[in-house]
Amino acid sequence: MHAQVGIIGAGPAGLLLGHLLHLKGIDSVIVENRSQDYVIDRVRAGVLEQGTVDLMIQMGVGARLQREGLRHEGLYISFSGRRHHIDLAELTGGKAITVYGQNEVVKDLIDARIATGRPVYFEAANVSVHDIDSPRPKIRFQKDGRNQEIACDFIAGCDGFHGICRPSIPEGSIKIYEREYPFGWLGILAEAAPSSEELVYTYHERGFALFSMRSPKITRLYFQVPPAEDIGNWSDDAIWDEMLIRMTTRDGWKPNTGRILQKGVTPMRSFVAEPMRYGRMFLAGDAAHIVPPTGAKGLNLAAADVMVLAQAFARFYQQNSTQLLDQYSDICLRRVWKAQRFSWWMTSTLHRFPGETEFDYRRQLADLDYLIGSRAAMTSLAENYVGLPMDVPLV
Ligand code: FAD
Ligand code: PHB
Repeated sequence: MHAQVGIIGAGPAGLLLGHLLHLKGIDSVIVENRSQDYVIDRVRAGVLEQGTVDLMIQMGVGARLQREGLRHEGLYISFSGRRHHIDLAELTGGKAITVYGQNEVVKDLIDARIATGRPVYFEAANVSVHDIDSPRPKIRFQKDGRNQEIACDFIAGCDGFHGICRPSIPEGSIKIYEREYPFGWLGILAEAAPSSEELVYTYHERGFALFSMRSPKITRLYFQVPPAEDIGNWSDDAIWDEMLIRMTTRDGWKPNTGRILQKGVTPMRSFVAEPMRYGRMFLAGDAAHIVPPTGAKGLNLAAADVMVLAQAFARFYQQNSTQLLDQYSDICLRRVWKAQRFSWWMTSTLHRFPGETEFDYRRQLADLDYLIGSRAAMTSLAENYVGLPMDVPLV
Protein backbone atom coordinates (compact mmCIF):
# COMPACT_ATOMS: atom_id res chain seq x y z
CA MET A 1 0.00 0.00 0.00
CA HIS A 2 1.01 3.59 -0.48
CA ALA A 3 -0.31 6.75 1.16
CA GLN A 4 0.76 10.36 0.99
CA VAL A 5 0.23 10.54 4.77
CA GLY A 6 0.13 7.48 7.03
CA ILE A 7 -1.75 8.32 10.22
CA ILE A 8 -1.28 6.22 13.35
CA GLY A 9 -4.17 6.47 15.82
CA ALA A 10 -7.91 7.04 15.32
CA GLY A 11 -8.40 9.37 18.27
CA PRO A 12 -9.45 12.99 17.78
CA ALA A 13 -6.03 14.00 16.36
CA GLY A 14 -5.79 11.23 13.76
CA LEU A 15 -9.42 11.42 12.64
CA LEU A 16 -9.45 15.22 12.38
CA LEU A 17 -6.21 15.16 10.42
CA GLY A 18 -7.54 12.47 8.09
CA HIS A 19 -10.63 14.53 7.31
CA LEU A 20 -8.75 17.81 6.86
CA LEU A 21 -6.42 16.06 4.41
CA HIS A 22 -9.39 14.55 2.60
CA LEU A 23 -10.86 18.04 2.15
CA LYS A 24 -7.56 19.16 0.64
CA GLY A 25 -7.42 16.18 -1.71
CA ILE A 26 -4.52 14.51 0.09
CA ASP A 27 -4.79 10.78 0.63
CA SER A 28 -4.17 9.09 3.95
CA VAL A 29 -4.43 5.71 5.64
CA ILE A 30 -5.41 5.56 9.32
CA VAL A 31 -4.11 2.66 11.41
CA GLU A 32 -5.60 2.10 14.89
CA ASN A 33 -4.80 -0.75 17.25
CA ARG A 34 -8.15 -0.78 19.11
CA SER A 35 -11.61 -1.72 17.86
CA GLN A 36 -14.03 0.86 16.49
CA ASP A 37 -16.40 0.30 19.44
CA TYR A 38 -13.62 0.71 21.98
CA VAL A 39 -12.50 4.00 20.45
CA ILE A 40 -16.07 5.33 20.41
CA ASP A 41 -16.98 4.17 23.92
CA ARG A 42 -13.90 5.60 25.66
CA VAL A 43 -15.24 8.33 27.99
CA ARG A 44 -12.84 11.24 28.14
CA ALA A 45 -12.98 14.94 27.37
CA GLY A 46 -16.14 16.98 27.24
CA VAL A 47 -15.29 20.63 26.70
CA LEU A 48 -14.72 22.00 23.20
CA GLU A 49 -13.24 25.44 22.68
CA GLN A 50 -14.93 27.79 20.28
CA GLY A 51 -12.13 27.19 17.74
CA THR A 52 -12.62 23.41 17.87
CA VAL A 53 -16.36 23.82 17.34
CA ASP A 54 -15.76 26.21 14.44
CA LEU A 55 -13.32 23.71 12.94
CA MET A 56 -15.83 20.84 13.10
CA ILE A 57 -18.51 23.03 11.49
CA GLN A 58 -16.24 24.31 8.72
CA MET A 59 -15.08 20.75 8.02
CA GLY A 60 -18.71 19.79 7.45
CA VAL A 61 -18.83 17.39 10.43
CA GLY A 62 -20.55 19.72 12.91
CA ALA A 63 -24.25 19.11 12.28
CA ARG A 64 -24.88 16.85 15.29
CA LEU A 65 -22.54 18.94 17.43
CA GLN A 66 -24.63 22.02 16.60
CA ARG A 67 -27.84 20.16 17.43
CA GLU A 68 -26.81 18.29 20.56
CA GLY A 69 -23.80 20.20 21.93
CA LEU A 70 -24.49 22.32 25.03
CA ARG A 71 -23.18 25.85 24.56
CA HIS A 72 -21.96 27.35 27.86
CA GLU A 73 -21.31 31.06 28.12
CA GLY A 74 -20.03 30.87 31.68
CA LEU A 75 -18.77 28.65 34.49
CA TYR A 76 -18.67 28.66 38.28
CA ILE A 77 -15.70 28.67 40.63
CA SER A 78 -16.72 27.42 44.08
CA PHE A 79 -14.82 27.74 47.35
CA SER A 80 -15.60 28.30 51.04
CA GLY A 81 -19.14 27.08 50.35
CA ARG A 82 -20.01 29.69 47.71
CA ARG A 83 -20.30 29.52 43.91
CA HIS A 84 -19.03 32.48 41.90
CA HIS A 85 -20.05 32.97 38.30
CA ILE A 86 -17.52 33.79 35.59
CA ASP A 87 -19.18 35.15 32.48
CA LEU A 88 -16.94 33.77 29.74
CA ALA A 89 -18.87 35.35 26.87
CA GLU A 90 -19.06 38.81 28.38
CA LEU A 91 -15.33 38.76 29.21
CA THR A 92 -14.20 37.50 25.79
CA GLY A 93 -16.38 39.41 23.37
CA GLY A 94 -18.96 36.65 22.95
CA LYS A 95 -16.89 33.45 22.96
CA ALA A 96 -18.15 30.30 24.66
CA ILE A 97 -17.33 26.63 25.13
CA THR A 98 -19.47 23.69 24.05
CA VAL A 99 -20.00 20.55 26.09
CA TYR A 100 -20.00 17.61 23.65
CA GLY A 101 -18.36 14.32 24.61
CA GLN A 102 -15.10 13.33 22.99
CA ASN A 103 -16.72 10.01 22.12
CA GLU A 104 -19.39 11.90 20.15
CA VAL A 105 -16.66 13.84 18.31
CA VAL A 106 -14.90 10.57 17.51
CA LYS A 107 -18.16 8.94 16.39
CA ASP A 108 -18.94 11.82 14.01
CA LEU A 109 -15.42 11.73 12.60
CA ILE A 110 -15.44 7.95 12.08
CA ASP A 111 -18.78 8.25 10.25
CA ALA A 112 -17.29 11.02 8.10
CA ARG A 113 -14.17 8.95 7.40
CA ILE A 114 -16.17 5.91 6.36
CA ALA A 115 -18.33 8.10 4.08
CA THR A 116 -15.18 9.28 2.24
CA GLY A 117 -14.29 5.67 1.43
CA ARG A 118 -10.71 6.34 2.46
CA PRO A 119 -9.03 3.54 4.45
CA VAL A 120 -9.11 3.20 8.23
CA TYR A 121 -7.88 -0.03 9.81
CA PHE A 122 -9.11 -0.82 13.31
CA GLU A 123 -7.67 -3.65 15.43
CA ALA A 124 -4.28 -3.42 13.73
CA ALA A 125 -1.75 -5.48 15.69
CA ASN A 126 1.96 -4.82 16.25
CA VAL A 127 1.97 -1.41 14.60
CA SER A 128 5.50 -0.14 13.96
CA VAL A 129 7.21 2.66 12.02
CA HIS A 130 10.37 2.35 9.93
CA ASP A 131 12.83 4.58 8.01
CA ILE A 132 11.26 7.67 9.54
CA ASP A 133 14.30 9.79 8.74
CA SER A 134 14.25 8.72 5.07
CA PRO A 135 12.11 10.08 2.19
CA ARG A 136 10.04 6.84 2.29
CA PRO A 137 8.93 6.13 5.86
CA LYS A 138 6.85 2.97 6.38
CA ILE A 139 4.16 1.70 8.70
CA ARG A 140 3.94 -2.04 9.34
CA PHE A 141 1.17 -3.89 11.15
CA GLN A 142 -0.83 -7.08 11.10
CA LYS A 143 -4.48 -7.19 10.21
CA ASP A 144 -6.47 -10.43 10.45
CA GLY A 145 -3.18 -12.30 10.79
CA ARG A 146 -1.66 -10.85 7.59
CA ASN A 147 1.40 -8.59 7.45
CA GLN A 148 0.75 -5.17 5.93
CA GLU A 149 3.11 -2.38 4.94
CA ILE A 150 2.24 1.17 3.97
CA ALA A 151 4.93 3.22 2.22
CA CYS A 152 4.28 6.89 2.98
CA ASP A 153 5.56 10.34 2.08
CA PHE A 154 4.98 11.31 5.72
CA ILE A 155 3.82 9.71 8.96
CA ALA A 156 1.58 11.49 11.46
CA GLY A 157 2.04 10.08 14.96
CA CYS A 158 -1.43 10.64 16.45
CA ASP A 159 -1.29 7.59 18.71
CA GLY A 160 -1.68 9.26 22.10
CA PHE A 161 0.58 9.29 25.12
CA HIS A 162 1.12 5.50 25.24
CA GLY A 163 1.60 5.06 21.49
CA ILE A 164 4.65 3.79 19.58
CA CYS A 165 5.55 6.83 17.47
CA ARG A 166 7.27 8.99 20.07
CA PRO A 167 9.28 6.05 21.50
CA SER A 168 10.47 5.25 17.93
CA ILE A 169 12.44 8.50 17.84
CA PRO A 170 16.12 7.88 18.67
CA GLU A 171 17.07 8.92 22.16
CA GLY A 172 18.68 12.34 22.24
CA SER A 173 16.68 13.61 19.26
CA ILE A 174 13.81 14.95 21.34
CA LYS A 175 13.77 16.61 24.73
CA ILE A 176 11.10 15.75 27.28
CA TYR A 177 9.69 18.21 29.80
CA GLU A 178 7.55 16.56 32.43
CA ARG A 179 5.75 17.02 35.72
CA GLU A 180 3.66 14.43 37.56
CA TYR A 181 1.07 15.60 40.06
CA PRO A 182 0.65 13.95 43.46
CA PHE A 183 -3.04 13.25 42.78
CA GLY A 184 -5.43 11.91 40.16
CA TRP A 185 -9.13 12.33 39.37
CA LEU A 186 -11.81 9.83 40.21
CA GLY A 187 -14.45 10.41 37.53
CA ILE A 188 -18.00 9.13 37.16
CA LEU A 189 -20.75 9.29 34.60
CA ALA A 190 -24.15 9.27 36.30
CA GLU A 191 -27.72 8.92 35.15
CA ALA A 192 -28.81 12.22 36.71
CA ALA A 193 -30.06 15.48 35.23
CA PRO A 194 -27.39 18.19 35.61
CA SER A 195 -28.40 20.42 38.54
CA SER A 196 -26.46 23.39 37.10
CA GLU A 197 -26.50 24.61 33.52
CA GLU A 198 -22.78 25.35 33.69
CA LEU A 199 -19.64 23.63 35.00
CA VAL A 200 -18.66 24.10 38.64
CA TYR A 201 -14.96 23.89 39.60
CA THR A 202 -14.71 23.45 43.39
CA TYR A 203 -11.79 24.00 45.73
CA HIS A 204 -12.60 22.27 49.02
CA GLU A 205 -10.45 21.58 52.06
CA ARG A 206 -10.78 17.85 51.24
CA GLY A 207 -9.58 18.56 47.69
CA PHE A 208 -10.72 19.52 44.19
CA ALA A 209 -14.08 18.52 42.72
CA LEU A 210 -15.66 19.21 39.33
CA PHE A 211 -19.27 19.19 38.22
CA SER A 212 -19.79 18.68 34.48
CA MET A 213 -22.29 16.98 32.21
CA ARG A 214 -22.77 15.22 28.91
CA SER A 215 -26.44 15.78 28.11
CA PRO A 216 -29.65 16.97 29.76
CA LYS A 217 -29.87 13.52 31.41
CA ILE A 218 -26.25 12.70 32.18
CA THR A 219 -23.98 14.28 34.80
CA ARG A 220 -20.17 13.92 34.74
CA LEU A 221 -18.35 14.44 38.05
CA TYR A 222 -14.79 14.22 39.30
CA PHE A 223 -12.90 14.60 42.55
CA GLN A 224 -9.26 14.60 43.50
CA VAL A 225 -7.82 11.35 44.92
CA PRO A 226 -4.27 10.02 45.51
CA PRO A 227 -2.65 9.18 42.13
CA ALA A 228 -2.60 5.39 42.51
CA GLU A 229 -6.08 5.19 44.04
CA ASP A 230 -7.80 1.84 43.36
CA ILE A 231 -11.31 2.46 42.08
CA GLY A 232 -12.22 -0.85 43.76
CA ASN A 233 -11.90 0.95 47.11
CA TRP A 234 -14.83 3.20 46.24
CA SER A 235 -18.39 1.92 46.48
CA ASP A 236 -21.01 3.98 44.64
CA ASP A 237 -22.37 5.21 47.98
CA ALA A 238 -18.92 6.31 49.13
CA ILE A 239 -18.39 8.18 45.84
CA TRP A 240 -21.68 10.06 46.23
CA ASP A 241 -20.93 10.89 49.89
CA GLU A 242 -17.58 12.41 48.91
CA MET A 243 -18.99 14.27 45.89
CA LEU A 244 -21.72 15.82 48.02
CA ILE A 245 -19.39 16.79 50.87
CA ARG A 246 -17.09 18.62 48.48
CA MET A 247 -19.67 20.17 46.17
CA THR A 248 -22.64 21.20 48.30
CA THR A 249 -22.67 24.97 48.79
CA ARG A 250 -24.18 27.02 51.62
CA ASP A 251 -27.21 27.93 49.53
CA GLY A 252 -27.96 24.20 49.24
CA TRP A 253 -26.81 23.70 45.62
CA LYS A 254 -25.52 20.18 44.97
CA PRO A 255 -25.39 17.71 42.10
CA ASN A 256 -28.36 15.42 41.54
CA THR A 257 -27.47 11.82 42.29
CA GLY A 258 -28.37 8.77 40.20
CA ARG A 259 -27.14 5.42 38.94
CA ILE A 260 -23.40 5.43 38.25
CA LEU A 261 -22.87 4.28 34.65
CA GLN A 262 -19.09 4.36 34.51
CA LYS A 263 -16.24 5.13 36.93
CA GLY A 264 -12.45 5.32 36.79
CA VAL A 265 -9.30 7.01 38.07
CA THR A 266 -7.03 9.11 35.84
CA PRO A 267 -3.51 10.15 36.83
CA MET A 268 -2.46 13.72 36.09
CA ARG A 269 0.65 14.90 34.33
CA SER A 270 2.12 17.69 32.29
CA PHE A 271 4.37 16.53 29.45
CA VAL A 272 5.92 18.10 26.35
CA ALA A 273 8.19 16.45 23.73
CA GLU A 274 10.27 18.90 21.69
CA PRO A 275 10.48 19.16 18.74
CA MET A 276 7.22 17.53 17.63
CA ARG A 277 8.96 16.05 14.60
CA TYR A 278 11.67 13.60 13.67
CA GLY A 279 12.59 13.32 9.98
CA ARG A 280 9.35 12.66 8.10
CA MET A 281 7.32 11.76 11.19
CA PHE A 282 5.24 14.47 12.87
CA LEU A 283 3.74 14.04 16.34
CA ALA A 284 0.33 15.55 17.10
CA GLY A 285 -1.98 15.63 20.12
CA ASP A 286 -1.32 13.53 23.21
CA ALA A 287 1.55 11.74 21.42
CA ALA A 288 3.49 14.99 21.78
CA HIS A 289 2.02 16.60 24.90
CA ILE A 290 -0.22 15.96 27.87
CA VAL A 291 -1.92 18.51 30.08
CA PRO A 292 -3.73 17.86 33.35
CA PRO A 293 -7.48 17.93 32.55
CA THR A 294 -8.26 20.88 34.85
CA GLY A 295 -8.04 23.40 32.00
CA ALA A 296 -9.98 21.16 29.55
CA LYS A 297 -7.30 21.70 26.92
CA GLY A 298 -6.10 18.23 25.75
CA LEU A 299 -8.50 17.54 22.91
CA ASN A 300 -8.46 21.17 21.83
CA LEU A 301 -4.67 21.16 21.60
CA ALA A 302 -4.85 18.02 19.48
CA ALA A 303 -7.24 19.84 17.13
CA ALA A 304 -4.96 22.91 16.96
CA ASP A 305 -1.92 20.73 16.11
CA VAL A 306 -3.57 18.96 13.22
CA MET A 307 -4.94 22.19 11.77
CA VAL A 308 -1.35 23.40 11.43
CA LEU A 309 -0.16 20.01 10.18
CA ALA A 310 -2.88 19.74 7.53
CA GLN A 311 -2.02 23.23 6.24
CA ALA A 312 1.65 22.29 6.18
CA PHE A 313 0.99 19.12 4.13
CA ALA A 314 -1.22 21.12 1.77
CA ARG A 315 1.53 23.69 1.28
CA PHE A 316 3.92 20.83 0.50
CA TYR A 317 1.70 19.13 -2.08
CA GLN A 318 0.28 22.28 -3.66
CA GLN A 319 3.31 24.57 -3.67
CA ASN A 320 6.15 22.12 -3.18
CA SER A 321 7.21 24.09 -0.10
CA THR A 322 8.46 22.55 3.14
CA GLN A 323 8.43 25.92 4.90
CA LEU A 324 5.33 25.29 7.02
CA LEU A 325 6.34 21.68 7.72
CA ASP A 326 9.64 23.03 9.03
CA GLN A 327 7.78 25.53 11.22
CA TYR A 328 5.17 23.01 12.42
CA SER A 329 6.77 22.21 15.76
CA ASP A 330 7.55 25.82 16.67
CA ILE A 331 4.06 27.04 15.74
CA CYS A 332 2.37 24.31 17.78
CA LEU A 333 4.67 24.56 20.78
CA ARG A 334 3.87 28.22 21.35
CA ARG A 335 0.24 27.28 21.87
CA VAL A 336 1.12 24.07 23.75
CA TRP A 337 3.24 25.90 26.31
CA LYS A 338 0.53 28.49 26.91
CA ALA A 339 -1.96 25.67 27.46
CA GLN A 340 0.58 24.01 29.78
CA ARG A 341 0.87 27.22 31.75
CA PHE A 342 -2.88 27.65 32.03
CA SER A 343 -3.55 23.98 32.90
CA TRP A 344 -0.80 24.03 35.53
CA TRP A 345 -2.26 27.23 37.00
CA MET A 346 -5.83 25.87 37.13
CA THR A 347 -4.52 22.64 38.65
CA SER A 348 -2.33 24.23 41.29
CA THR A 349 -4.98 26.79 42.24
CA LEU A 350 -7.80 24.28 42.68
CA HIS A 351 -6.12 21.16 44.17
CA ARG A 352 -4.76 20.36 47.60
CA PHE A 353 -1.16 19.17 47.55
CA PRO A 354 0.04 16.56 50.05
CA GLY A 355 2.25 18.14 52.69
CA GLU A 356 1.01 21.66 52.06
CA THR A 357 0.84 23.95 55.05
CA GLU A 358 -1.97 26.02 56.49
CA PHE A 359 -0.23 29.00 54.88
CA ASP A 360 -0.52 27.40 51.44
CA TYR A 361 -4.21 26.72 51.99
CA ARG A 362 -4.93 30.33 52.94
CA ARG A 363 -2.84 31.62 50.06
CA GLN A 364 -4.82 29.47 47.61
CA LEU A 365 -8.09 30.80 49.01
CA ALA A 366 -6.73 34.32 48.57
CA ASP A 367 -5.81 33.47 44.97
CA LEU A 368 -9.42 32.46 44.31
CA ASP A 369 -10.83 35.43 46.21
CA TYR A 370 -8.66 37.70 44.06
CA LEU A 371 -9.82 35.90 40.92
CA ILE A 372 -13.53 36.40 41.53
CA GLY A 373 -13.02 40.03 42.57
CA SER A 374 -10.86 41.16 39.68
CA ARG A 375 -12.14 41.66 36.15
CA ALA A 376 -8.55 41.43 34.88
CA ALA A 377 -7.99 38.06 36.58
CA MET A 378 -11.36 36.71 35.40
CA THR A 379 -10.62 37.89 31.85
CA SER A 380 -7.32 36.04 31.92
CA LEU A 381 -9.08 32.83 32.98
CA ALA A 382 -11.88 33.36 30.45
CA GLU A 383 -9.72 33.99 27.39
CA ASN A 384 -7.59 30.94 28.11
CA TYR A 385 -10.58 28.73 28.92
CA VAL A 386 -12.51 29.53 25.71
CA GLY A 387 -9.24 29.09 23.79
CA LEU A 388 -6.53 31.43 22.58
CA PRO A 389 -6.81 32.49 18.92
CA MET A 390 -5.67 29.94 16.33
CA ASP A 391 -2.47 30.83 14.45
CA VAL A 392 -3.63 29.41 11.11
CA PRO A 393 -6.86 29.52 9.08
CA LEU A 394 -9.28 26.79 10.18
CA VAL A 395 -9.65 24.66 7.05
P1 FAD B 1 -5.96 9.79 21.93
O1 FAD B 1 -7.35 10.20 22.13
O2 FAD B 1 -5.24 9.10 23.05
O3 FAD B 1 -5.94 8.88 20.63
C1 FAD B 1 -4.82 8.11 20.27
C2 FAD B 1 -5.29 6.90 19.51
O4 FAD B 1 -4.17 6.14 19.11
C3 FAD B 1 -6.18 5.99 20.34
O5 FAD B 1 -7.34 5.66 19.64
C4 FAD B 1 -5.30 4.78 20.60
O6 FAD B 1 -6.05 3.57 20.76
C5 FAD B 1 -4.43 4.78 19.37
N1 FAD B 1 -3.17 4.07 19.54
C6 FAD B 1 -2.38 4.01 20.65
N2 FAD B 1 -1.32 3.23 20.42
C7 FAD B 1 -1.40 2.80 19.15
C8 FAD B 1 -0.61 1.96 18.34
N3 FAD B 1 0.50 1.40 18.82
N4 FAD B 1 -1.00 1.72 17.07
C9 FAD B 1 -2.14 2.28 16.58
N5 FAD B 1 -2.94 3.07 17.30
C10 FAD B 1 -2.58 3.34 18.58
N6 FAD B 1 -9.32 17.35 26.86
C11 FAD B 1 -10.08 18.45 26.61
O7 FAD B 1 -9.78 19.17 25.65
N7 FAD B 1 -11.19 18.79 27.36
C12 FAD B 1 -11.56 18.03 28.41
O8 FAD B 1 -12.58 18.32 29.03
C13 FAD B 1 -10.76 16.89 28.75
N8 FAD B 1 -11.08 16.08 29.78
C14 FAD B 1 -10.39 14.93 29.97
C15 FAD B 1 -10.79 14.10 31.00
C16 FAD B 1 -10.12 12.91 31.22
C17 FAD B 1 -10.58 12.03 32.35
C18 FAD B 1 -9.02 12.53 30.37
C19 FAD B 1 -8.30 11.22 30.57
C20 FAD B 1 -8.62 13.35 29.34
C21 FAD B 1 -9.28 14.54 29.14
N9 FAD B 1 -8.92 15.40 28.11
C22 FAD B 1 -9.64 16.55 27.89
C23 FAD B 1 -7.79 15.07 27.25
C24 FAD B 1 -8.20 14.44 25.91
O9 FAD B 1 -9.01 13.31 26.15
C25 FAD B 1 -6.98 14.06 25.10
O10 FAD B 1 -6.10 15.15 25.06
C26 FAD B 1 -7.33 13.64 23.68
O11 FAD B 1 -7.91 12.36 23.69
C27 FAD B 1 -6.11 13.63 22.77
O12 FAD B 1 -6.44 13.11 21.50
P2 FAD B 1 -5.38 12.30 20.66
O13 FAD B 1 -6.06 11.92 19.40
O14 FAD B 1 -4.12 13.07 20.60
O15 FAD B 1 -5.03 11.02 21.53
C1 PHB C 1 -15.55 16.83 31.40
O1 PHB C 1 -16.73 17.19 31.21
O2 PHB C 1 -15.21 15.64 31.27
C2 PHB C 1 -14.53 17.81 31.80
C3 PHB C 1 -14.89 19.15 31.90
C4 PHB C 1 -13.93 20.09 32.28
C5 PHB C 1 -12.65 19.67 32.56
C6 PHB C 1 -12.30 18.35 32.45
C7 PHB C 1 -13.24 17.40 32.07
O3 PHB C 1 -11.73 20.60 32.95
